[in-house]
Amino acid sequence: MYYTHRLKLSLLLLLFSSYTQPAQIINWLHDDVATFVKGSYKNFAAVGTCFAVSRYVAYDMSKELHKVQKSALLEHINFLEIGAGTGSLSEVFEQQLENLVKQNVIKSYALVLVELEPIYIETLQKRFGSNPNVKIVCQDIAEWETDNQFDFIVSTLPWNSKFFTNDSVNQIQSKINEILTKHGVYSFVEYSLFGKLSRLIRSNNQIENFALKRQVVENMVEEQGYKHKLIWRNIPVPIHVYYLHKK
Ligand SMILES: C[S@@+](CC[C@H](N)C(=O)[O-])C[C@H]1O[C@@H](n2cnc3c(N)ncnc32)[C@H](O)[C@@H]1O
Repeated sequence: MYYTHRLKLSLLLLLFSSYTQPAQIINWLHDDVATFVKGSYKNFAAVGTCFAVSRYVAYDMSKELHKVQKSALLEHINFLEIGAGTGSLSEVFEQQLENLVKQNVIKSYALVLVELEPIYIETLQKRFGSNPNVKIVCQDIAEWETDNQFDFIVSTLPWNSKFFTNDSVNQIQSKINEILTKHGVYSFVEYSLFGKLSRLIRSNNQIENFALKRQVVENMVEEQGYKHKLIWRNIPVPIHVYYLHKK
């Protein structure tokens, strides 16, 4: 009886891993694991994880990008990725935008990657430096200034990390609203479970600050959100993807 249960459990786990892991493990190795881990070791609070976000997230976001292009009849797309890391998602966005140009759906695009961590910038330069449509900026998004407006803005910033306060989330959020075009879409991710689990290791004071910050994120989703998806194929836990319109 005991062994039958263990066998069933192992089979279930095997089935789950074969569904979720292989593609992501290959992507993960390809995405310069060592660099990502090095950056996360150096500044875990800002990076928030040891694993690059799954490309399934970028595939889902790309579907929304196509919808924005179609509904606003865009001939040029201005795309901003905040917290590009080593570029695992950026590569998918670059491919999608290139395809749109090749298929004559759009005439041109600009992909701007803003990343705080200098270690990752080197990798981004190696991956995208030869593409004149990609601009790489090594700066804190809160301090970055631009005159441009963006049709699609993606953020993978780890809001739940202690690196972000109630005020910084508010500040970044207002900036995003300022630079998003009126037909534009803003999408951000949030690891499932992390918010709840991190409460267990916080002091009372930290829990209060965390709750204030959660409120900002939840209000933002309530006011501006139009779609949400949970992507199961992500390491180490499934990840929420939110889609928002301009405020
Ligand atoms: C969860 S990682 C995601 C990395 C990458 N986009 C991926 O999909 O794997 C968050 C990234 O945001 C960057 N970051 C954190 N705070 C930032 C800020 N204020 N401005 C710009 N980038 C920031 C981190 O250095 C890290 O690369």
